[in-house]
Amino acid sequence: MTAHTYDLLDPELLRDPFAGYSRIREEGPLARANFPGLDTSVWLVTRYDDVRTLLSDRRFVNNPASVPGLDVTNVRAKGAAAQGIPPEYAEYVLNTVLDADGEDHIRLRRLVSRAFTARRVAELRPRVEEITESLLDALPGTAEDGVVDLVEHFAYPLPITVICELVGVPEEDRQSWREWGSTLMRMRPETTGPTIRDMVEHIKRLIAHRRADPKDDLLTGLIRAHDEDGDRLSDKELVTMVLTLVFAGHETTAHLISNGTAALLAHPEQLALLRDDPALAPRAVHELMRWCGPVQGTRVRYASEDVELGGQTIRRGEPLMAVLVAANRDPRAFPDADRLDITREADGRKETHVGFGHGLHYCLGAALARQEGEVAFTALLKRYPAIERAVPEAELRRQPVPVSWRLEALPVRLG
Ligand code: HEM
Repeated sequence: MTAHTYDLLDPELLRDPFAGYSRIREEGPLARANFPGLDTSVWLVTRYDDVRTLLSDRRFVNNPASVPGLDVTNVRAKGAAAQGIPPEYAEYVLNTVLDADGEDHIRLRRLVSRAFTARRVAELRPRVEEITESLLDALPGTAEDGVVDLVEHFAYPLPITVICELVGVPEEDRQSWREWGSTLMRMRPETTGPTIRDMVEHIKRLIAHRRADPKDDLLTGLIRAHDEDGDRLSDKELVTMVLTLVFAGHETTAHLISNGTAALLAHPEQLALLRDDPALAPRAVHELMRWCGPVQGTRVRYASEDVELGGQTIRRGEPLMAVLVAANRDPRAFPDADRLDITREADGRKETHVGFGHGLHYCLGAALARQEGEVAFTALLKRYPAIERAVPEAELRRQPVPVSWRLEALPVRLG
């Protein structure tokens, strides 16, 4: 084990997290790192088996308040303050389904899980295809000097339209959500606070409108659950759930679509395989999630008692983060792990990637995100089979943010 403390904002890690975290993984199973907004360093857990253990062993919890005897006064509030979130709004972002443990987690997740089952998601497919086709129709019209930005005109609008329709966010508000999402991901205290305030106030207004005018959407369902039985969902939790779903539902999926497209463009033989055989799409999405998934690391977990992990005793109350990008490139789990191969056998293979997390908090929207990815990649390559990058790979700009792997823009020629 190394005594070195890494910094998640280290420019090398931000520039190439796959290489950087792989190096850390090979130095030893655990490492320490400074984490923005936490006063103590966190344990970085990088190896595949340890990551799965961390995410499925119930001795690790998501809410520091679930650690017996730990003085958590303000662990999170301090973190929120460090990110510039005013106290009166902190509660809306500190108590999401991802921050809940045990019964609270089950209660919150159950309220929405039915909307995201494989069957419900499959029913949405025709609508996802329709939205995709109309975005592809519009792409040539967005070209400047023959160059189209796929992040702006394809990767973002697709998932934001899908999740807003599902939840019930009106069309005229979607551009605001897109801007709020991008601002939050930059994690700058001077913009995070005002953005959270705007989002919360916006959702409160949306709830008031929808209560007066119910529709057939998830928001109406949540309002009903709240109004019929406040024990199932409190006022604040209702706002928080809407915020979580719309935010989580598009920010990540947009970057699966843009990272995945960039990866295919950088590997023309893989692109050709998928273009010539769209039936490969589910496997391709699986492999792109593993190889360049947008979420680099999970929410911090806390040891609720002393626990052995990766040959180390983690003391009660210590924070840990699962580094998903390191686990997904762990050669102990994936042969030739750094190679992109969309024909890797997903079903017959022993291991599956952890790009959507693992265990109790496994991504609620995974089936929806996978479907959007499948539709996006196949429809794009069918419509524009000769698509190519308009700038060399080295000139693609990544956003220098920790924990998330994001392209600023993806300039292409449609061919
Ligand atoms: C949880 C990734 C799309 C909603 C998670 C987690 C990951 C993840 C890694 C677990 C985090 C942790 O354990 O700390 C992704 C990726 C996506 C995606 C890579 C797209 C490619 C979506 C979509 C939704 C969604 C479309 C729509 C609702 C959620 C929610 C949770 C979650 C609500 C928390 C679940 C819980 O705490 O039980 N996601 N996600 N995600 N995701 Fe996603």
